[in-house]
Amino acid sequence: MSDTRAITLTVNGEPRQAMVDVRTTLVDVLRDQLRLTGTHVGCEHGVCGACTVLVDGEPVRGCLMLAVQADGRGVETVESLAPDPAHLNPLQAEFVRHHGVQCGFCTAGILMSLTAALRDNPRPTEGEIRETLAGHLCRCTGYQGMVDAVLALAGR
Ligand code: FES
Ligand code: FES
Repeated sequence: MSDTRAITLTVNGEPRQAMVDVRTTLVDVLRDQLRLTGTHVGCEHGVCGACTVLVDGEPVRGCLMLAVQADGRGVETVESLAPDPAHLNPLQAEFVRHHGVQCGFCTAGILMSLTAALRDNPRPTEGEIRETLAGHLCRCTGYQGMVDAVLALAGR
């Protein structure tokens, strides 16, 4: 038996409404109802970090948060970083320049965690960057390109 609720989120600065089953995860609402498919789903149990979005500015695993838990809150997804895909934001541009992206499956979640971390600390050390990346799995890059990208952005 389904139990459906109406929720209101502010997603990337815009008010959005959705009717959701109480068991539906935040990432499923973002992808399936709001068509924000930049956020990816990997493990679906909180391990890989691919589904990371910001809720009220804090990184959250979208596969672990229920959509109803996000009711009334502000959500930022990777689409907020470059509303115009022709113009990447500075972090994305450094990722491209330093080969921090290969298949891209992990990238949206990593960009969102780094975005939150850089707001708190715009000049992180390599150790601090690696600490942020530790919550994410990437099968392709070996992480060094991502570290170099953030170091370049931080002017280190
Ligand atoms: S899909 Fe959410 S942590 Fe892997
Ligand atoms: S770029 Fe392929 S998983 Fe990270």
